[in-house]
Amino acid sequence: ALKDNTVIVVLGASGDLAKKKTYPALFGLYRMGFLPKDVKIVGYARTKMDDAEYHKRITSYLKVADDDQDGQAKIQEFKQFTSYVSGGYEDGPSFAKLNEVLQAIESKYQSKEANRLFYLALPPTVFIPVAQHLKEQCYSTTGKNRIIVEKPFGKDLESCRVLLSSLKQHWTEDETFRIDHYLGKEMVKNILVLRFANIAMNAPWDKNSISNVQITFKEPFGTEGRGGYFDEFGIIRDVLQNHLLQVLSIITMERPVSFSAEDIRDEKVKVLRAIPPIERSDTLLGQYVAANGKPGYLDDDTVPPNSVCPTYAATTLWIHNPRWEGVPFILKAGKALNEAKVEVRIQFKDVTQGIFKDISRNELVIRIQPSEAVYLKLNTKTPGLNTRAIPTEMDLTYKRRFTEAKIPEAYEALILDALRGDHSNFVRDDELDVAWRIFTPILHWIEGKSGPSPKPVPYPYGSRGPKELESFIGKYGYKRTVPEYTWPVMNV
Ligand code: BG6
Repeated sequence: ALKDNTVIVVLGASGDLAKKKTYPALFGLYRMGFLPKDVKIVGYARTKMDDAEYHKRITSYLKVADDDQDGQAKIQEFKQFTSYVSGGYEDGPSFAKLNEVLQAIESKYQSKEANRLFYLALPPTVFIPVAQHLKEQCYSTTGKNRIIVEKPFGKDLESCRVLLSSLKQHWTEDETFRIDHYLGKEMVKNILVLRFANIAMNAPWDKNSISNVQITFKEPFGTEGRGGYFDEFGIIRDVLQNHLLQVLSIITMERPVSFSAEDIRDEKVKVLRAIPPIERSDTLLGQYVAANGKPGYLDDDTVPPNSVCPTYAATTLWIHNPRWEGVPFILKAGKALNEAKVEVRIQFKDVTQGIFKDISRNELVIRIQPSEAVYLKLNTKTPGLNTRAIPTEMDLTYKRRFTEAKIPEAYEALILDALRGDHSNFVRDDELDVAWRIFTPILHWIEGKSGPSPKPVPYPYGSRGPKELESFIGKYGYKRTVPEYTWPVMNV
């Protein structure tokens, strides 16, 4: 682990990601006492600004109440050890200047050991030159070097391979930490424990008991302001190929030999390799249109007027191994929907009919956000003097069960892992390769590289998604709970 004598360099320090995620996470870790002793944080970006302006930017998203005196004091301390260097991403001399700043910090260390953690909060167009310059100009020869990179890791299988191999010329796999921030979320990390620490969960975890699985991502806002970026990528690259596929691999992998990073990632890769590329017929694409006073996707000035870019996608994946043969895994994600929610919904098969009629299926739901929860829908006898069954739920809502617990932000968990050198929750090179293999054919189809592009179906801003969704999931055997099930959810 990087304990003492460590500098964290945030490249892209004036950008959105750094401001909204990286710095708040660094501050959170500092507040909780998890940053290395005497750590220094150096921001680097093109924008010319003085330290005051820099500090204003990086603290603008820190959530500390005005009357939280300890928090306010911590912000002042945080500013003391963060500084800024401006420079280009593609010119060597700027990086030589950065290196001088780092050396000046390190000259005050008691020992020769000097560790550097580089965090690239940068657009993909400059990944490669920055990675190269960092290696050539800013690589510590007397300690450990680590580099954290963010998606997008390419746009398809081929471009991903080019990117990976260019980065590999400068940085080893061991030094590289590829972020998929869903792997830092508490509930995603909980899946391995739920599955492998519970016989009751693990035993029915296969095609014999499970009918279908849905992994759902819903956001209540559109691409406002990010249309330019989004149009080049689309919802499949933005969410399905990375976040939802990562969740799928953890839901379906075999038990790892140990909890070491390579044992876990070996199993994830193994199950992903059993998934063939997605078929067009297993795909439903949507694009939101204006409704309820909200603009449609095409109303964004940064979006080309005839764009067929999907802002909603549902795709069904199949796993050809003995555990999962024949079980559909439906990945769904959409922008501009009716709510914010990310969950895994595992629907079990019907019980043998005969003694029951119209009885609901069991469903295990892992709610990743908001309000982390695990609940199991199960049938019980209606209390009283009759024997009717009624669907109900066993409910583990975190806020109710773990009233004192503070759930860390994904980025806090991941930066700490990178400082500790733990790769378990980062994406390995071969994992990326197989993930792109699954999605590349439909992505090329959508882009019109293999004939005319499919036209996404429209859905209104703020709706549940395309109206075609109901029959899409029905096709894969999903059955609604009967009779119409309502759960009097307590507001927590
Ligand atoms: C990002 C996507 O990776 O994840 C965004 O680029 C999306 O489009 C975001 O909004 C969702 O992350 P979270 O943590 O808010 O669920």
